[in-house]
Amino acid sequence: MNIRVPMFIVMASLCIIAMANADEGETLFHIQCIGCHHFGSHAVGPDLCGLAGRKAGTATGYSYSRAMQDYSVRWNKDSLEYYLESPMTIVPGTKMGIIGFDDKHDREALANYVIERSRSRECL
Ligand code: HEC
Repeated sequence: MNIRVPMFIVMASLCIIAMANADEGETLFHIQCIGCHHFGSHAVGPDLCGLAGRKAGTATGYSYSRAMQDYSVRWNKDSLEYYLESPMTIVPGTKMGIIGFDDKHDREALANYVIERSRSRECL
């Protein structure tokens, strides 16, 4: 029996899985982050546009804690996913006062969404 699956079905399924993850990240962002962060301007927290590849604590025009300025990490999906587990213990003294996320899947969805959007067209 020939059970070859047409390539477009495989591709479509992969797209749906990728979109589901991005949607989850977007939903979480709107619940968990938007009160303090925007894309395109500083708010309570720094502007997230341009976050991908930026060193922690260096967006111009935002007044960071000393702790965040001393956190010598560049933001990418991995470093953001790691940070979101427990911001206040990973960067002791940060003024980003949230507990963090136990669920690795949630952290990955958030990190994927934030990093992708930080280098999207609206941020150029
Ligand atoms: C209660 C307000 C608040 C919430 C909610 C919040 N943040 Fe923050 N965030 C801040 C503040 C304030 C800073 C600056 C921290 C410092 O200077 O110590 C910050 C810093 C950051 C940074 C470092 C940025 C840089 O330029 O180095 C990242 C990344 C970040 N937040 C991501 C998130 C994400 C993702 C969420 C949602 C899960 C989130 N934050 C939720 C207030 C918040």
